[in-house]
Amino acid sequence: MKYIKIANSDLNASEISLGCMRISDLTNQEISNLIHTAMDEGVNFFDHADVYGGGKSEEKFSGAIDMTSGLREQMILQTKCGIRKDCYDFSKEHILEAVDGSLKRLRTEYIDVLLLHRPDALVEPEEVAEAFTILENSGKVKYFGVSNQNPMQIELLRKFLKQKIIFNQLQFSITNTGMIDAGINVNMEIDPSINRDGSILDYCRLKNITIQPWSPFQYGFFEGVFLDNEKFPDLNQKINAIAAAKGVTNTAIAIAWILRHPARMQPIVGTTNPGRLKDICKASDVTLTRLEWYEIYLAAGNKLP
Ligand SMILES: NC(=O)c1ccc[n+]([C@@H]2O[C@H](COP(=O)([O-])OP(=O)(O)OC[C@H]3O[C@@H](n4cnc5c(N)ncnc54)[C@H](OP(=O)(O)O)[C@@H]3O)[C@@H](O)[C@H]2O)c1
Repeated sequence: MKYIKIANSDLNASEISLGCMRISDLTNQEISNLIHTAMDEGVNFFDHADVYGGGKSEEKFSGAIDMTSGLREQMILQTKCGIRKDCYDFSKEHILEAVDGSLKRLRTEYIDVLLLHRPDALVEPEEVAEAFTILENSGKVKYFGVSNQNPMQIELLRKFLKQKIIFNQLQFSITNTGMIDAGINVNMEIDPSINRDGSILDYCRLKNITIQPWSPFQYGFFEGVFLDNEKFPDLNQKINAIAAAKGVTNTAIAIAWILRHPARMQPIVGTTNPGRLKDICKASDVTLTRLEWYEIYLAAGNKLP
């Protein structure tokens, strides 16, 4: 496993992280196996949110392992707040309350990274700033970031925050390439030319914000997995051929494709299957050539102008 020195922090994070959105229905034993497999593979970064499994994901994670042991210190625990039933809420009161809830469910004294989950249309950045400062001063949260935010939304926060934004979690995979399509098709009168995110990829690179691609195996908005899916014959043929040549699985190639991008993104994989996780982690040993990277991009149905 390779590690990323996350800018503006002292975090040395595994370049592949494990998302815990889907663990709430697993048994304690299954969760413990998954966490230990991850750590044996060198994964030290775990992504949560207060809403995953209605809070059960955080609770079952900490219930499955001994959080009082040295294990906790070897982990970088990230969680998110700001999503409530029928609304988004970045108020100071809600952020503080949400973090207390996560600390309790995770049975830990501190959260390494707190992300604001989805942009709140009614955000008052002064309140976010107050909440972050209280959380930092109390030692409850070490670092802060955002998720699903565009450059201007981040700039608005940055105007008031004392803390750095170190992560932005965004949907990105071989079949969700909006972040790069517009850059390849600048100033053309075709759909891929439409800049839907305010050039978030370039912005994050300029500001040293590490992008965490979420759902790296899903197409659409959780419509399913593109690997071994007959809807994507050319893509699977290309990925499988490269996987066979390199002696790894197609899952490793899908992640290696993200890792090949020089922005040094940190994909968050959501598998609950330890065997699959081991296969995925092999991606860290694979470096795709420039040509292979482009071949996969084109096999997904994209075109170069
Ligand atoms: N910030 C946000 O708004 C946001 C949104 C969504 C997710 N996230 C984060 O991103 C993490 C990953 O999301 P995700 O779970 O949707 O990502 P994913 O890794 O793309 O999908 C994992 C799911 O696909 C299944 N799967 C089936 N075949 C697979 C294959 N060949 N390769 C890999 N997976 C296969 C897995 O099943 P098995 O378990 O059986 O392997 C699992 O249910 C979440 O846990 C969460 O932490 C963040």
